[in-house]
Amino acid sequence: MSTQKFQVQATITRNARIQGDYFRLDFVMPDLPAVAQPGQFVHVQIPGLEGHILRRPFSIFDTDAATGRLSLIYKVVGLGTEQLSHVPEGAVLDVVGPLGRPFSPLPAASVIVAGGYGCAATFLLAKQATTPPTVLIGGRSQADILLVEEYRALGCEVLVSTDDGSAGFHGRVTALLEENHAKSPKAWLASCGPIPMLRTLAELMPRLGIAGELSLDQAMCCGVGACFACVTKVKDTSPQGWKYARICYDGPVFPAEQLVF
Ligand SMILES: Cc1cc2nc3c(=O)[nH]c(=O)nc-3n(C[C@H](O)[C@H](O)[C@H](O)COP(=O)(O)OP(=O)(O)OC[C@H]3O[C@@H](n4cnc5c(N)ncnc54)[C@H](O)[C@@H]3O)c2cc1C
Ligand code: FES
Repeated sequence: MSTQKFQVQATITRNARIQGDYFRLDFVMPDLPAVAQPGQFVHVQIPGLEGHILRRPFSIFDTDAATGRLSLIYKVVGLGTEQLSHVPEGAVLDVVGPLGRPFSPLPAASVIVAGGYGCAATFLLAKQATTPPTVLIGGRSQADILLVEEYRALGCEVLVSTDDGSAGFHGRVTALLEENHAKSPKAWLASCGPIPMLRTLAELMPRLGIAGELSLDQAMCCGVGACFACVTKVKDTSPQGWKYARICYDGPVFPAEQLVF
């Protein structure tokens, strides 16, 4: 994990709706793209709410070292993200990052399973892969399926599932994984998405013989390992069999077999 972190005043170069409640935010943070690793996140102070709410964490979606550009994909879900969606280009954001433990590089025969905006957290991983992975993207409906063309442009095979059947496979992305695995078995999986999806994956993976890593997306306070507001249970050798780990510092990416849901 990179230990180099920055707190910078970054100028927004793009903040635009991509579809429905989802926005793409680009800003210039010259030193960060060179050290940011797939699965890491930045902690953003929302302009206008500095004294009112804590920083908000967002996965690093994409970077461009040549221009210093860093991109996020965010969904408007509450006060902070609603306010962020109104911040104009040219405004300055206070950003801390890169934070957290990244994904391991993908071996050949890998599959990415992403739920909703979780596909932003796994994009750089696919971009840096030597062999493009298969990517399974799930959402409640078509409006929640993002980045399909962006992953295809990397050479990835992309399959989509929706809970309501409005696009692709009708059902959960975990059911799509089972179906696809029967035809085209994979040895390694990387995933980010809602906790129920990750819990199902953690149960499925040993049965399918797939190892891999899961990235947990859970509310945070300090974001740097100091407050223990973001803990999750991981297996250890103590008599109780588990200990608490901080998602912001020990994660957000964990080996799947380590997690206790
Ligand atoms: C490591 C990490 C990476 C993340 N990456 C992204 C990303 O790439 N894109 C993105 O859109 N969001 C991402 N999130 C979630 C994002 O941080 C929250 O959606 C955001 O903080 C909500 O702020 P708010 O003030 O708009 O909502 P609030 O007013 O704080 O909350 C509104 C609603 O959203 C729920 N909520 C708040 N935080 C989360 C969360 N972390 N997960 C699920 N539900 C939440 C609340 O329970 C509440 O129901 C990430 C979170 C973590 C921990
Ligand atoms: S948010 Fe403070 S320790 Fe993780």
